Amino acid sequence: MSVQQEIKRLTAPDIRARKGGEPIVCLTSYHAHTARLVDRYCDVILVGDSLGMVMHGFETTVPVTLDMMILQGHAVMRGSKRALVVVDMPFGSYEQSKEQAFASCARVLKETLCGAIKLEGGRRMAETIRFLVERGVPVMGHIGLTPQSINTLGSFRAQGRDEVDWAPIEADAIAVAEAGAFSVVIEAVAEPLGRRITEKVPIPTIGIGASPACDGQILVLEDMLGLSPRVPKFVKRYGDLGPGIEAAIAGYAKDVRARTFPGPEHTYEMRAKRKG
Ligand code: KIV
Repeated sequence: MSVQQEIKRLTAPDIRARKGGEPIVCLTSYHAHTARLVDRYCDVILVGDSLGMVMHGFETTVPVTLDMMILQGHAVMRGSKRALVVVDMPFGSYEQSKEQAFASCARVLKETLCGAIKLEGGRRMAETIRFLVERGVPVMGHIGLTPQSINTLGSFRAQGRDEVDWAPIEADAIAVAEAGAFSVVIEAVAEPLGRRITEKVPIPTIGIGASPACDGQILVLEDMLGLSPRVPKFVKRYGDLGPGIEAAIAGYAKDVRARTFPGPEHTYEMRAKRKG
């Protein structure tokens, strides 16, 4: 008999059922400690492949591997209890065939115990999304700006800023929804397009640089905490943690050099000698 968790985690169907309701709050996290904090306030924690840029200093998300995602996905699962944890499928782990996608997703679900995966692409990925969903893999889609395509896009530019460009992006959203995704991230599109897609598709839209009308919002945690040196226009900084962290490191370095750290309260005394 299995031991049931005391706190029930949100599931992909729970998030799917939130279409048009209370806004869905999402943030990224890559570590157990930040996951514990994010979990208190958010419905969805995304272990985004942005970790390649944020944690590892890559210029793009292209070099991120499945092993990197699994390692951090498992850490976030250990740090959280309530939120739905969604793990990003990295570039090269799902595009080749439906079978490749299933094998990669199965590894992620088994090895991290997360509740869903996210993958980039609209119409081009619809058949794969259907294949995965029919085989028990909950899929969050990702359309608009798809950063894994940086080498064909040429830059991280916002999409759909001319009305003539709307139709393919709208068709992507509809294709992802019809294929069975439980929600879809819309990244960096013109506001009226984000709003229009949200009205059109029956699944929750999660905006990042899209529209306040989206069913939910997501940001990269380090961007909104003020830890990322460069951020896109759509990021609102809710904190400025950089100077506080730097002051703490400077204080530590000063104390070590002055031999004032560790103090007596941070060191171990000898045990008192036993009699006899
Ligand atoms: O990788 C990521 O963090 C993402 C979000 C920006 C949606 O995909």
